[in-house]
Amino acid sequence: MGRAPLTLTAIYARAANGVIGMDGALPWHIPADLKRFKALTMGADGLGRPMIMGRKTFESFGKPLPGRRHVVLTRDADWSAPGAEVVRTPGEALACAARDNPAGEASVVGGAQVYGLLLPLCARVELTEIHADYPGDTHLPALDMAEWDVILREDHHARDGVPAYSYVTLQRRRG
Ligand SMILES: NC(=O)c1ccc[n+]([C@@H]2O[C@H](COP(=O)([O-])OP(=O)(O)OC[C@H]3O[C@@H](n4cnc5c(N)ncnc54)[C@H](OP(=O)(O)O)[C@@H]3O)[C@@H](O)[C@H]2O)c1
Repeated sequence: MGRAPLTLTAIYARAANGVIGMDGALPWHIPADLKRFKALTMGADGLGRPMIMGRKTFESFGKPLPGRRHVVLTRDADWSAPGAEVVRTPGEALACAARDNPAGEASVVGGAQVYGLLLPLCARVELTEIHADYPGDTHLPALDMAEWDVILREDHHARDGVPAYSYVTLQRRRG
């Protein structure tokens, strides 16, 4: 696959027990986290960054998210969908996301299979730690903190049916 020609940021929300998904959807509804996801994937200039994802995550959106390119990994030669730029390998996903991308940034937005493939190439993680356990069918392991520095942390208390959560920005350690 070689070295990523892009600065890649993984963005995900993870429950205390490692769950990230249930029945093809998020197990929780945290409106502020959805807003944050939008802001992060639009980029600092608001112009939108390509998002790399698995076919299941693309389908979980229901329809493409405005203002951002959707680079979708599938092994299914017959699969296509409006708004999806279909790719068949992680290398092809990176090359596709690098095209017409003057900012040189892209987001890796899941799910578990795609984080498994591309997290090793990510320079940064924008994690939402959800401080509750959820039932689910899709999990991610905790990050190996020997590889990451926490550069920002913002805690939010539980309220109005939303569990307590923290936004955590992690940067890969050099060397
Ligand atoms: N909590 C969060 O932040 C978060 C973020 C994103 C998603 N999610 C949740 O995670 C769940 C989906 O995750 P998931 O792990 O089941 O699926 P996924 O990673 O979204 O998609 C998996 C699909 O990607 C394709 N794929 C995987 N590896 C590939 C490879 N090496 N080459 C080509 N294509 C490849 C395959 O598509 P084909 O089967 O078409 O071949 C595979 O079935 C949903 O519940 C979703 O809501 C949660």
